[in-house]
Amino acid sequence: MRISVIGCGYLGAVHAAAMASLGHEVVGIDVDVAKVDALRAGKAPFYEPGLPELLTSAGATGRLSFSTEMADAAGADVHFLCVGTPQKRGEFRADLQYVEAAFTDLLPHLGAGDLVVGKSTVPVGTAEDLAARLEGTGATLVWNPEFLREGFAVKDTLHPDRLVYGLPTTDGVPTDDGARAQTLLDEVYAAPLAEGTPLVVTDYATAQLVKVAANSFLATKISFINAMAELCEATGADVTQLADAIGFDDRIGRRFLNAGLGFGGGCLPKDIRAFMARAGELGVSDALGFLREVDSVNMRRRVRVVDLAREVCDGSIVGRRVAVLGAAFKPNSDDVRDSPALSVAEQMRLQGAHVTVTDPQAVPNAAARWPELRFADSALDAARDADVVLLATEWDDYRSIDPAALGAVVAHKRILDGRNVLDPAAWRAAGWTYRALGRP
Ligand code: UDX
Repeated sequence: MRISVIGCGYLGAVHAAAMASLGHEVVGIDVDVAKVDALRAGKAPFYEPGLPELLTSAGATGRLSFSTEMADAAGADVHFLCVGTPQKRGEFRADLQYVEAAFTDLLPHLGAGDLVVGKSTVPVGTAEDLAARLEGTGATLVWNPEFLREGFAVKDTLHPDRLVYGLPTTDGVPTDDGARAQTLLDEVYAAPLAEGTPLVVTDYATAQLVKVAANSFLATKISFINAMAELCEATGADVTQLADAIGFDDRIGRRFLNAGLGFGGGCLPKDIRAFMARAGELGVSDALGFLREVDSVNMRRRVRVVDLAREVCDGSIVGRRVAVLGAAFKPNSDDVRDSPALSVAEQMRLQGAHVTVTDPQAVPNAAARWPELRFADSALDAARDADVVLLATEWDDYRSIDPAALGAVVAHKRILDGRNVLDPAAWRAAGWTYRALGRP
């Protein structure tokens, strides 16, 4: 198939390379010249394990190209919309300006029989609006949400755990155009379908809702366990043992029950907010009232870590040296969008602490966004003479850090385990004051 992928960020760059590796002829399009230049040179414009190798192998087939010109999308049979939908400044709603711009630019290049496939996370109703604007072009819109996780994006794209097609329907039944669209998309995803990937064929509204419902559920699961952490803190219980114990119940499951600094990133926080905003517009805001609490629990964890730092520093962090291990919103990523680690680091800086942040991959991105923080190249450098060390992002390097080696460089052996990944006994045995969220 000839495919265009519009928007080459965390989603689109991986999607373009993955589609080429599946045998399709792909052009990735982005307005960012630097990004396109990097991708043309076979370089990933961000840190994503496996992506450089995929770009190299797909590039070698001659089937993968990149361009800043939307005109290069002309001639493709299938056009994937992969642009971002960030939170609108000062509002909960999603900012659809990039979807709007990409779609408007693409329109004149569409031919009869083309498929436009929306992958961006959008407020329900967006697909219906875009589909109406395709009338008369002979092109068909499909909504095909994406569930990839950063850090596992290559695997999640090549071997997804499910595929969802939102097709044009009448009375719940795909129209003739919808049926044709499904045939085309089945061809695009022939490889994962042959592996037995479950496929849900549905209407536009359901397909759009699936994505935000999934992210809302995940956010709720994390905030549930973080709410339990608050209870554990009030009672002396241990939230990690509580999570293990409830997680043995198959109906609950242990995944996404890691209590700590909570969720951040470019998806979960803004998606639950945009979902609440959309529910309000639809007159059903009560249905998502619980997401407000999910958001609050999540944000309270950040405040709690700053309080813990104050507690271990004898009541004040003013003038204290704080080392923050981790800047990315999660390990195996250099993404710092709404990163809990940086939000806490910045809070402590504003409250008078001398904060030094380190991260295996995210320092350049963090320094660009938070120029007032100090950065170090390694955990030992960041921790030199520190009064307190905060583990904020659970990279393997930090999980396996040697308490004795770190203890040799700090001024005071005080560790805050913001992700509940260290062994309290080992750290205490090495002379550290160990504190964590939801743990005695
Ligand atoms: C998420 C969804 O998982 C993915 O399906 C969707 O397509 C995009 O949004 P991502 O943002 O890459 O993916 O990160 P994810 O792995 O879901 O983690 C989100 C945040 O939750 C991170 O900050 C992580 O540290 C935090 N988290 C995750 C917890 O605090 N506890 C957990 O148990 C799991």
